[in-house]
Amino acid sequence: MANEKNLQNIIAHCKEYGFVFPSSEIYDGLSAVYDYGQYGVELKRNIRDYWWKSMTQMQDNNIVGLDAAIFMHPTVWKASGHVDNFSDPMIDNKDSKKRYRVDHLIEGYAETLDKESGDALLQQMDALLAANDFAGLKALIESNKIKCAISGTCNWTDVRQFNLMFSTEMGSVAEDANMVYLRPETAQGIFVNFLNVQKTGRMKIPFGIAQTGKAFRNEIVARGFIFRMREFEQMEMQFFVRPGTQKEWYEYWKDARMKWHLSLGIPAEHYRFHDHVKLAHYADAACDIEYDFPMGFKEVEGVHSRTDFDLKSHQEFSGKKLTYFDTEINQHYIPYVIETSIGLDRTVMMILSESYLEEDLSTAEKQDSRVVLKFPPMLAPIKLAILPLLKKDGLPEIAKELLNECKPHFRCFYEEKDTIGKRYRRMDAIGTPFCVTIDHQTKEDHAVTIRYRDTMTQERIPLSEVKNLVLEKTKMF
Ligand code: GAP
Repeated sequence: MANEKNLQNIIAHCKEYGFVFPSSEIYDGLSAVYDYGQYGVELKRNIRDYWWKSMTQMQDNNIVGLDAAIFMHPTVWKASGHVDNFSDPMIDNKDSKKRYRVDHLIEGYAETLDKESGDALLQQMDALLAANDFAGLKALIESNKIKCAISGTCNWTDVRQFNLMFSTEMGSVAEDANMVYLRPETAQGIFVNFLNVQKTGRMKIPFGIAQTGKAFRNEIVARGFIFRMREFEQMEMQFFVRPGTQKEWYEYWKDARMKWHLSLGIPAEHYRFHDHVKLAHYADAACDIEYDFPMGFKEVEGVHSRTDFDLKSHQEFSGKKLTYFDTEINQHYIPYVIETSIGLDRTVMMILSESYLEEDLSTAEKQDSRVVLKFPPMLAPIKLAILPLLKKDGLPEIAKELLNECKPHFRCFYEEKDTIGKRYRRMDAIGTPFCVTIDHQTKEDHAVTIRYRDTMTQERIPLSEVKNLVLEKTKMF
């Protein structure tokens, strides 16, 4: 269903209504970097809060939070394998200067062939990739006469590894400066603080550490709006378990995370699991939770059984013991880890894709339509719009009193201008679930008209009940 929605319409809507802007737009933007506007920032914050509370507060007192710095000691990235392995083989076309990921270039060409020849080509590519045979990959591209989509030529550079980490220098004078990386994942901040948290929090295995924060990747092929960005935010949780129990915890978290997704009110058929067949060097099981984005099913979250790889490696590189003493079995060991890792921006895009609707409201008498964002009410940027029918006769005073009563509890929007119909449409376009109108009758009966975004139905309710109704319908738990 989401497929039928037009990604371009969603992007245009996000810009027009203050959800997402291209970064530095007055300078023509910066590729794959975006800014969140006044409603986008509220939506993103609500999603982050919902994830945070679900993963900490609502757990059995065994998952705690952390906020580690973006900069970390450079050896962290050596130990994690990112310095040596976090790279993709790339090739440049000398005429267009366009850079391609080698696997994407060959896969794109394979799709133009009949199935048998395409599969044979992909098999050759896989073997060369597995052997890190860059000369062989270049020869494969040339012998198949694979052309650059822009220049149309086969004038290729050699294949080179391209590390996805951004680096910068820390230190005041160039000679003393140390190269540091902008973290490509938040997870490593959790691993290096594992013992700090375990000891100071007197945590007993199994326990988890949750963290949200920015991550940076110099993505080569950055496209798909906020799906693949160079600066993005992750929400990650590392769950530390006794060795040998990782399989059952992996299944537990796969199930728990899918339940979280379904709790957003998104139908099950818009999700699927994609189990990894080819596992990363640190994993003994891994899967993606994929959502049916406008461009098809794509990963929104990963659940990974990371073994003891990271802690063991940090122990080796730092020379500091990172073992845990399990009093139940009287043993020291390095815990195994199940990781849940979800992109916040990708979740924003998922919620936008799911909620964006162009509705035809035409009747026999007149043509009509609306664009509405049917956000889950708990995630809506604005929960309640307060709309005095007229700018006079004491109506704004009553409306402002209601605003003052409600604003400590949830985000409200106050507007006096334009016809009520236009004001409703503007609230639909930013996904406000409830609008109340204060009219002359309010002065008599102390009641207001509440209008529901999804059904557009209206009813009269006592003014004194507005705050509690909105609180009840927008609560997270
Ligand atoms: N610590 C594990 C890890 O980082 P990952 O699969 O590379 O795993 C986890 O990333 C999640 O982060 C992805 O499922 C995705 O939602 C998000 N993510 C990764 N790269 C991203 C990018 N360039 N832009 C936006 N989100 C991204």
